[in-house]
Amino acid sequence: MTIAMPVLGAGTFRLKGEDAYNSVTMALEAGYRHIDTAQIYGNEKEVGAAIADSGIARSEIFLTTKIWMDKFGKEAFLPSIRQSLADLQVEYVDLLLIHWPLKNEEVAMSDYLASLKEVKELGMAKQIGISNFTVAQMQQAIDILGAEAIYTNQVEVHPYLQNRKVVDFCRENGIIVTGYMPFAYGDVLKDETIARIAEKHQATTAQTVLAWMRQNEFVTIPSSTKRANIESNLKASEVVLDEADMAAIAELDRNHRLANPDFAPEWD
Ligand SMILES: NC(=O)c1ccc[n+]([C@@H]2O[C@H](COP(=O)([O-])OP(=O)(O)OC[C@H]3O[C@@H](n4cnc5c(N)ncnc54)[C@H](OP(=O)(O)O)[C@@H]3O)[C@@H](O)[C@H]2O)c1
Repeated sequence: MTIAMPVLGAGTFRLKGEDAYNSVTMALEAGYRHIDTAQIYGNEKEVGAAIADSGIARSEIFLTTKIWMDKFGKEAFLPSIRQSLADLQVEYVDLLLIHWPLKNEEVAMSDYLASLKEVKELGMAKQIGISNFTVAQMQQAIDILGAEAIYTNQVEVHPYLQNRKVVDFCRENGIIVTGYMPFAYGDVLKDETIARIAEKHQATTAQTVLAWMRQNEFVTIPSSTKRANIESNLKASEVVLDEADMAAIAELDRNHRLANPDFAPEWD
């Protein structure tokens, strides 16, 4: 059985060892059923242990991982996914993403996307998708796989980086937008406009940002090491912003990009 991706998940970037185990445990206890990890986070074992120890049925959890760039070659791709599944203690992930497109295509996109598709055909991933793909790269991926095969593009989205070109292209092609770093790693939580809207709704700034994400139909995956934050973020589902609030936050867009490593593509 495969479940649709819950709109709010728990991210695990930067969480190592016990922090990763505890964060995922707290998230599952709070009621999250969507967990986002990646090979490069170095925490798939802890994420897997937390899921196994939770006692929650595998079929109730939507689990995403991402394959790292050094594993895109034909020889390395499948073995690396088998290793991820072993570390995660699962027989399949719900979603497998290409973590970053290759800037210089050391491995051709048509080759690594063929491997991605094979993982799905083998039943090791229920859905497949991409992350950090630009509009041009999404078009390339669509030409290779077909739009209907691409479940999501996971990209940086928050009030300070609204990524409209990528978002519009995803929408035109029926690709879900998963917005990562919804709090811009804390930056947007200090914003005065967001604080004013939060006060009006007797909500926290974090809940206000998450409500804005949800009402824009973004799936998102904030991370936290604190039970209080994990629990209150989930309660953002109770916060409903009005049109004026949504418009005011839309105006905060300022191309404030945090995830921009040297291997990043030429952004839109
Ligand atoms: N595909 C990609 O290339 C990519 C890149 C980056 C991230 N991601 C994914 O997206 C997830 C989210 O990004 P992120 O973790 O970098 O950044 P983020 O979710 O924007 O911010 C995380 C920070 O926000 C704080 N926080 C969380 N809830 C809070 C609350 N209610 N009040 C105040 N502070 C709060 C956390 O601190 P506390 O621990 O103190 O709560 C943490 O320092 C990652 O974990 C990862 O799964 C994907």
